[in-house]
Amino acid sequence: MPEFQTSPGMRDILPAESSRWRRFVETFAEVVEGAGYGQVMSPLLEDLGVFQRIGVATEVVSKEMYDFVDKGGRHIALRPELTASICRAFVQHHPLTPWKIWYTGSMFRYEKPQRGRYRQFEQVGIEVLGADDPFLDVEVIALGWEFYRALGLSQVALLLNSLGEPTDRAAYVAALRTHFAANLEALSPESRVTLEANPLRVLDSKRLQDAPLIAAAPRIADFYSADAAAHFDVVQAGLSALGIPFTIDATLVRGLDYYRGTTFEYQGGTLDSAQNALGGGGRYDGLVESLGGPPTAGVGFAIGLDRTLLACDDEGVYPAPPAAVDVFVVDTTGGLQALTLTAELRAAGMKADRPYENRSMKSQMKAADRSGAAFAVIIGTNELEAGTVVVRPLRAERTEGAGQSTVPRPDLIEYLKKAIP
Ligand code: HAM
Repeated sequence: MPEFQTSPGMRDILPAESSRWRRFVETFAEVVEGAGYGQVMSPLLEDLGVFQRIGVATEVVSKEMYDFVDKGGRHIALRPELTASICRAFVQHHPLTPWKIWYTGSMFRYEKPQRGRYRQFEQVGIEVLGADDPFLDVEVIALGWEFYRALGLSQVALLLNSLGEPTDRAAYVAALRTHFAANLEALSPESRVTLEANPLRVLDSKRLQDAPLIAAAPRIADFYSADAAAHFDVVQAGLSALGIPFTIDATLVRGLDYYRGTTFEYQGGTLDSAQNALGGGGRYDGLVESLGGPPTAGVGFAIGLDRTLLACDDEGVYPAPPAAVDVFVVDTTGGLQALTLTAELRAAGMKADRPYENRSMKSQMKAADRSGAAFAVIIGTNELEAGTVVVRPLRAERTEGAGQSTVPRPDLIEYLKKAIP
């Protein structure tokens, strides 16, 4: 065992998985920039207070935050999510509205690590601030949907709910509290604790013991004001018009406290139920105000990269791209030819590599094979004298049946450009 290893719930991402991660973000950027979203990069650290606005009763804030006092005496925290940071940025920079932005980066939550649940994990997400239009809810949800399709995932289900307007939500929470409190002995001990802090979250309990009480609980739909019901109707009609299938789930309350109105989650069909939320989001119309800004509507989602890639593995889609170079230069004349030739090839836009430590021809060819290159370019003393190189195909699937040929050195780049599509 080495003395130092990554901390629990944190991982090194090695090649070629790291290329896949980068491509994941690029695919996301293509989808959302195509819809007018611009990227915001905000700091990893914020004042603790920014995240406390997520809701001090949520576990993300009360139990899972990485917070500390810095050398200047400020109480700060590593971000557990980005919605609060984006709202803080909105208040700080007062951009024109609607402000349509996207982001990516690492989040930190001190959770119990397991497959699909880490202490440092990656999200991609979008937020729209400053417009209350239900068609924006539809746009946001549809962009997430489109992204999963771009990855090639087919086993993703969209769950949809509305928590109503703040007064609807408050009345509903009070009704839930009364319902559960009246049946306290039937509730699991864990849910009794949850009930104290946040009655809505009891609906999230997966414990069998709680199921009958949850099934008998009041329904949020009975508490909607006319405006909340109308907003939710337009969201559903919009999704149907785009042909996006969804299921209404009245128990979908989400883990963060700022949600009002529309909430949604994308669930993966192949993952364990405790970790099957690939992404989620909703409206959070009060959050900007709680951070000192004007009353501002907000809607968005975040998608977990780690989990979504696990779902891709399970479905056999979106594999890591091959890390192979195009050309591997084998030089048995001492290495200087390999030095200049790889530099020329790289300058011409090709991926080129070479072996080091002046190995034998046999071991250089082995390295060429291991590199995954389409072609080996071989220079020996004869070729050096004749001003030629030997081009040898290594991978039939990348060289379209080309045979070995001797090429004048000045023609090499032209030759390879034609041979490598
Ligand atoms: P969230 O549901 O807490 O929402 O996280 C979004 C996604 O991040 C989850 O669906 C999951 O895929 C991933 N995730 C969360 N925790 C972990 C973890 N410990 N390990 C691996 N993946 C994880 C938010 O963060 C909100 N900010 C979403 C939002 C944006 N709402 C409105 N706008």
